[in-house]
Amino acid sequence: MKIKSVFVCQQCGYESPSWYGKCPQCGTWNSLVETVKESGKAPASARTAARQAKPVKLSEVRHIEKSRIKSGFVEFDRVMGGGIVPGSVTLLAGDPGIGKSTMLLHVIARTGGLYVSGEESAEQVKLRAKRLGISGDNISILAETLAEAIAEAIHQPGAGDRGILVVDSVQTLNSEELEGMAGSVGQLRRSTEILVAVAKTTGIPVVIIGHVTKEGAIAGPKVLEHMVDTVLYLEGERYANARILRTLKNRYGAVDEVGLFEMGDGGLKEIENPSEIFLQDRVTDVPGSVVTVVLEGTRPLLIEIQALAVPSPLAVPRRVGSGVDYNRLQVICAIIQKRLGLPISSSDIYVNVSGGIRISEPAADLAIALSIISSYQNRPAPRKAAAFGEIGLLGEVRRTSQEKRRITEARRLGYATLIHSQSAPTLRSALSYLRKGEPSEKAPAGRR
Ligand code: TYD
Ligand code: MG
Repeated sequence: MKIKSVFVCQQCGYESPSWYGKCPQCGTWNSLVETVKESGKAPASARTAARQAKPVKLSEVRHIEKSRIKSGFVEFDRVMGGGIVPGSVTLLAGDPGIGKSTMLLHVIARTGGLYVSGEESAEQVKLRAKRLGISGDNISILAETLAEAIAEAIHQPGAGDRGILVVDSVQTLNSEELEGMAGSVGQLRRSTEILVAVAKTTGIPVVIIGHVTKEGAIAGPKVLEHMVDTVLYLEGERYANARILRTLKNRYGAVDEVGLFEMGDGGLKEIENPSEIFLQDRVTDVPGSVVTVVLEGTRPLLIEIQALAVPSPLAVPRRVGSGVDYNRLQVICAIIQKRLGLPISSSDIYVNVSGGIRISEPAADLAIALSIISSYQNRPAPRKAAAFGEIGLLGEVRRTSQEKRRITEARRLGYATLIHSQSAPTLRSALSYLRKGEPSEKAPAGRR
């Protein structure tokens, strides 16, 4: 086969036949590296294969549902669309230290297979497995970073013939064909290509771990997304326990499923009844706390929003949000000021979402606004009240998607007072749900 070379930007993956000092696409300096590329002309063997290509009836194609490998890790299987499809390639991406290795160790403990670790030694993996209570009789381990060697190793007796191939992580891999360092765009792509070929020729499902680094939003797993069948994303706050597994892409299932896990001493545990998990440590009857219902995928979750509004000594008071969108918080503060006539512009405002969850839905607007007002006016929300709805710039409360689902879940958990577009068409009318003003901020009842 004829070898051709191109220059690839190591930051964004831009390809060019000639070298540039500065990448024309992302503007990074000195980021173009010469990379081997196969020539466009198909090799003779491929042309022969093309002549033999034979279409089959759609009805005669083997049905993947029956052959899916169940890991028995219910939340994981669900997010994958009902189990792992033989011959598929999955990318599990996430921040370093979020629990990707832990999650796949749990999965491979049930499916069996080969765990390739380029990050940790076999002993380190063993130690972790021991902590998780995994004996590892059905798991082979290989500390290797050369992609070609991994492709060879899978054919060794007992390696991955039953089960899956886990590669931890793609950033440590390199291919002997290329000069670039492990982790460069060229190496990431080539190594992944080799792993994809392994999956397609052997039928062994491959799960690749990819770290998302700060600048890596582009340079990391992003450049691999189109090469794999499924892209999963594990997220959560590193110092909080909840973890959410999302699908960004899935050729074999829906993309709006999420799995919920809890990181503990024994590793990741599935959260079976997640609706209320984030309300466990809630202190009630304190101003500034309002419960909302958000949808994670298709699942309604009850989450507490906390706010603190205090007089500010600063010329430009603080607006600090954790778990909420900063710009959205600014807009909500402006609406409160203008539509309700509350002079909150001279207060510092802090908003926090409990459980380390990040909310991106506008449905949380109403609860955010009410929590701020509740703190500002020292008026607690009723104990069993939940609020949801998008707030418009005119101060109106709008309907949210899947309102019925949210209402049903909140009622099921005993939240009888529901504040939403029907019960409170405007933010002003929603205020009547807060209790009468109290002279001064109280400390939480249990702490006095
Ligand atoms: P890890 O799976 O190594 O993360 P990643 O592969 O995504 O980099 O998990 C890292 C963190 O998880 C580590 O800081 C310790 C914590 N952890 C637990 O809390 N409990 C456990 O049982 C394990 C194995 C890890
Ligand atoms: Mg790891």
